[in-house]
Amino acid sequence: MRAVTFAPAVLALAGFVWAQTPTERVIPTLPPQINALPSLTPTIYDDSAPDSQECPGYKASNVAQTGHGFTADLAIAGANCQAFGNDVADLVLEVQYQAKERLNVRIYPKYIASANSSWFILPPSLVDQPEWDGKTTANSSDLSFDWSNDPTFQFRVSRTSTGEELFSTYGHVIVYEDQFIELVTNMVEDYNVYGLAENIHDFRLGNNHTQTFYAVDAGNPIDGNVYGVIPFYQETKYHNGTDSTAHGMYARNAHGQEWLLRENTITYRTLGGSFDLYFLSGQKDDGSSSALTTIAQFQVGCIGTPAMQMYWTFGFHQARWGYENISVVQEVVDRYREANIPLECLWNDLDIYDLYRDFTNNQVTYPLPAFTNFIESLHANGQHYVPIIDSNIYVSNPENASDYYEPFANGAQLQTFIRDPTTGDFYYGDNWPGFSVWADWLLPSSQAWWTSEIVKWHKGTPFDGIWIDLSEASSFCAGSCGNGRLNENPVHPPFLLPGDPLTFDFNYPEGFNVTNATEASSAAAAASSQAAAYSASPVLPAATTTTQGRTEPTPGVRNLNFPPYVINHVQSGHALGKSAIAPNATHNDAYNTTEYEMHNLFGLQISNATYHALLEVFPGRRPFTVGRSVFAGSGKTTSHWGGDNTATFGSMYLSISQAFTMMMSGIPMFGADTCGFARNTDNQLCSRWMELSAFFPFYRNHNVKAAIGQEAYHWSSVAESARRAMAVRYSLLNYMYTLFYHAHTEGATVMRALAWEFPNDASLAGTDSQFLLGPSILVTPVLVPNVETVQGVFPGIGDGERWYDWYTLEEVHAAAQENVTMSAPLEHINVHVRGGSILPLQQPKYTTNETRHTPFGLLVALNSTGGAMGSLYLDDGESLVQDATRLVTFAYAENCLSFTSEGSYHAAQPLANITIAGVASAPQSMSLTCGGAESDANVTMAYESGVLKVAGMEDVTASGAFEKDMKVCFGW
Ligand code: NOJ
Repeated sequence: MRAVTFAPAVLALAGFVWAQTPTERVIPTLPPQINALPSLTPTIYDDSAPDSQECPGYKASNVAQTGHGFTADLAIAGANCQAFGNDVADLVLEVQYQAKERLNVRIYPKYIASANSSWFILPPSLVDQPEWDGKTTANSSDLSFDWSNDPTFQFRVSRTSTGEELFSTYGHVIVYEDQFIELVTNMVEDYNVYGLAENIHDFRLGNNHTQTFYAVDAGNPIDGNVYGVIPFYQETKYHNGTDSTAHGMYARNAHGQEWLLRENTITYRTLGGSFDLYFLSGQKDDGSSSALTTIAQFQVGCIGTPAMQMYWTFGFHQARWGYENISVVQEVVDRYREANIPLECLWNDLDIYDLYRDFTNNQVTYPLPAFTNFIESLHANGQHYVPIIDSNIYVSNPENASDYYEPFANGAQLQTFIRDPTTGDFYYGDNWPGFSVWADWLLPSSQAWWTSEIVKWHKGTPFDGIWIDLSEASSFCAGSCGNGRLNENPVHPPFLLPGDPLTFDFNYPEGFNVTNATEASSAAAAASSQAAAYSASPVLPAATTTTQGRTEPTPGVRNLNFPPYVINHVQSGHALGKSAIAPNATHNDAYNTTEYEMHNLFGLQISNATYHALLEVFPGRRPFTVGRSVFAGSGKTTSHWGGDNTATFGSMYLSISQAFTMMMSGIPMFGADTCGFARNTDNQLCSRWMELSAFFPFYRNHNVKAAIGQEAYHWSSVAESARRAMAVRYSLLNYMYTLFYHAHTEGATVMRALAWEFPNDASLAGTDSQFLLGPSILVTPVLVPNVETVQGVFPGIGDGERWYDWYTLEEVHAAAQENVTMSAPLEHINVHVRGGSILPLQQPKYTTNETRHTPFGLLVALNSTGGAMGSLYLDDGESLVQDATRLVTFAYAENCLSFTSEGSYHAAQPLANITIAGVASAPQSMSLTCGGAESDANVTMAYESGVLKVAGMEDVTASGAFEKDMKVCFGW
């Protein structure tokens, strides 16, 4: 174990810095006042705010049938109420039975004054808009819509077959104003609602939660708004403990918004736009409904299924902010190799750049061509490289010709940046490099410019994928603060950075005081003396702020920066312009669309643009981009990481529910900063987290500058945990890849909540401390410090489900819903295989490519009727359009294992062995038919303790494991 001590020298260093005079510690930055915005009271906490449910509502008239639904007029049913905007008197209601499983309700203004209407209707060019399938009618729909005008317009969506009410605004008015729309649905008692990503919250959202949506650059605030916005929820209802029904609702609107989950109701409020609601029945053909079907319907029918990823991206990734130079990254690569911990991909953060400017190379620390050679050496070893690109673009100092920055000059020439409405010039915010601009993705020229910069940069920095950061989009000052001061070049953001004076990180995970008591107490003492030193003489003066009351709606005017309804935005003071491009910034499209409408879409747009740029760099190859801000539909082009979490057990635990919501949102290539981003980790937390993340699709260790290094080789226990967990993961790479194939083609989920796979067990409704990878692998991680055991359930076991320990293949014996205590020493993660599964395995090697070239094995885990099934998808692992693929279907029934395949992809590796778990006794005989012919190959068979092992099959399958159909039968 690595000892962490706070030598007097470190403490003296903090003291030494402090001992300097303030002028010696001057950091060239913007004054913090430049980020000062008035402090607002969120409406949900504002007792003086109007009650929008006192608004008059609407009356429907002029109903006209369309064949697949109807339209009607909605007219305001009383005087304008001006709750949080200007009332819109006349609306259109459109009800469409779009597909058997999907009903759409749209409500939008009848008279849109101009295309640049104040009530922006999200165009399908920005976010897919589901439409009628051309055949469904009210008669063939799973869902029914009914409405009433008594006392005002209200509607209900129910399940046609059973009458089950899924959504009902009865008893509530609809509010439609230019900066505020609201509807309320009645909910059953103690409802089970999930989703509304992105959030850092329990999996089951509960009925005392407000989900605010406004993409934000803030470390993962629990229960607050975070980086992504996916306005979709799924609800499950359990009926008498014997079955459940499930459905979903997607509200296609990109404005800042709030969902108030309360006892018996959910209130949906946005800062504008329209109601564009998609109700999903969750029903299969047999009429039964489930969460998994609902989630698939959301992806396939509404937002699009996730991108297929390159095979290598499922390897292990190491990143860090603070890799100072090439020698440091070389050492990371070498030490992983020496420790024999597989490292697939090395990532660089901002450190590579010259003065934080995108697309540059720091010629002192990451000089070319040495850096190019470093990346090429990774490639030569079958490894990969991914760098960061920030969303902001540095603006050259106009008074200093030598400060020329080509990416800005090129974009400026194309006029491709977002604008400041007050000057008409570009909007100059502030970010890492200083004054910055942001691409206006509504302009077609921005794609060409972005592609060209990425293509050029790739020549010296031959990356394999791109990491997009700060895409909320984040700006460190309020408004176009660079206006008139572009010559000032603030080279430091207006807040303290890790590594700055008096910012030494003395935080450690829970439990550190038990495992490392001495270090913990010296860290605590050092932290309080640092805090005292800082408060006595802050390095940066605090911004002075004022408070501002609620703004009143003004007829004919929208207040973009301070809308009358104040969402509970997590930034201090709650103003929308805090740490982001201001809402009144304008775009260059024909309508001068504002950031007010576009804010939540920047992440989606920059990821899409990067995806297309990568297609130019690597024609025909699946692009790998990992983005921070996401919106509904992002998964079609991008992967996502969970943002700035902390090195705590609590943060690790919450990464599981965050992952579930991403699986629901069609962004399955998701992972959290393993071992924790902010704060110092320790060997215990990092061991547990390296184990846990090995079962997340995207597996990356990353942390902040100035906290201690947390690469897996630093501690022997972490190294061992990583090696063991990665061995499981790499054995299962084909299984993971096949799950992605099903996600990509059918909207299936990759990580799964227990509740999704076992929908009739109400006791699993909130379980988020265990999860399944696909249908077959149960993971029970340790999520608390200082324990060597873990408790978990074996779902379905009371109904005959069988479970086998991954490592021993021993069958689990437990009672229904029993919380079983399992041994969980520090280097061990409990993994169980579900009976009824057939898993294709390969032998774990150092890289995914080496692993991919080893012989196959099959693990058959028998269910209670002695059967099992599975599938395997094979292709070249990287082409966007495949020349050849192969889908192998495995089945075990009546003592025979058989497989057949479709497609022509040739996997050259043989099938070496078959392992069958759950067998009662040793069979007497075996026969093997391959490609229709009986084989007399010298295949061996061994039985021990319920496990039958068949080996020596290489000769029979020498032409490729799955080239020929096969049947292996056993006789007892
Ligand atoms: C914020 C990102 O979330 C984090 O991962 C990154 O290390 C820092 N920006 C610095 O680039």
